[in-house]
This record gives sequence, structure tokens and C-alpha cells, in this order.
Amino acid sequence: MDDAELIREAARAREKAHAPYSGAMVGACVETGSGETYSACNVENASYGLTICAERAAIFAAVAAGHKRIGKVAISAQGLENPMPCGACLQVMREFAVERVLVDRGDDGIDSYDFTELLPRPFKL
Ligand code: THU
Repeated sequence: MDDAELIREAARAREKAHAPYSGAMVGACVETGSGETYSACNVENASYGLTICAERAAIFAAVAAGHKRIGKVAISAQGLENPMPCGACLQVMREFAVERVLVDRGDDGIDSYDFTELLPRPFKL
């Protein structure tokens, strides 16, 4: 899929966000190295720490379907001033070989980041 289509899929997933506590509605769509896509949204909980971000939910869906290499992650958010993946999601992206991160900027288009810009010195074992 091209970048605009991946962002559209992320925006579609965002509609399902469960975010009654923060009001931040986030959707993510990941594309695997072999071209399959998986989408998810953030899911919050009354016990706040149990919340999962949209990016990790989408990556885990891809992994559960058997994928270990995820080339791209597209993110679309509402209710966040400057959406960017959090540090925890970046570490998970690193585990599964994410190379590019696309962020929906609405009328300002799509920001496209090389993963190494966002997490230049990842933790590795
Ligand atoms: N959130 C995401 O889903 N992805 C991000 O990249 C940043 C934050 C969610 C988690 C929580 O539900 C809400 O946004 C506010 O932190």
C-alpha cells in the first residue's frame, strides 16, 4: 500500500479507539515486509497502566499472525497536539524491524520518519 492508503487504514482503526480517560483517539496500521497489513487502536483501562497504544496493538496482531518483520507503521490520532510514537512503542518497533514511521498531520499531509531518527540507539540484547 502507498503511504496515503496506510494512513487512511490507521484513521479507520482510530474510530474504534477506547479512550474515555485521555480522549486521545489513536489508530495504527502496520505493513509487514511481505505486504500484509494489520490495524488496531489504543485501548484504555480504568486502571490506567493497563492501557495499550495503537501501535503496539497493531504490531502484536501482526506478530500473532506469524510476522516478524514489519517495515512500516502508520499512525493517525485525534486529541493529541503532536502525535508521535511513545518510547515503549519505539522499543517494540525495533524488535520487529520497523524501518519507517508515518504520522498523519491532517491538512499538513504525512510526516515520514526513518526509524533510526526516532530511536537512534536502541536497547538490544
Ligand atoms: N497513545 C497511543 O495509542 N499511541 C501513541 O503513540 C501515544 C499514546 C495512546 C495511549 C493512551 O490511550 C493515549 O494515547 C494517551 O496517552
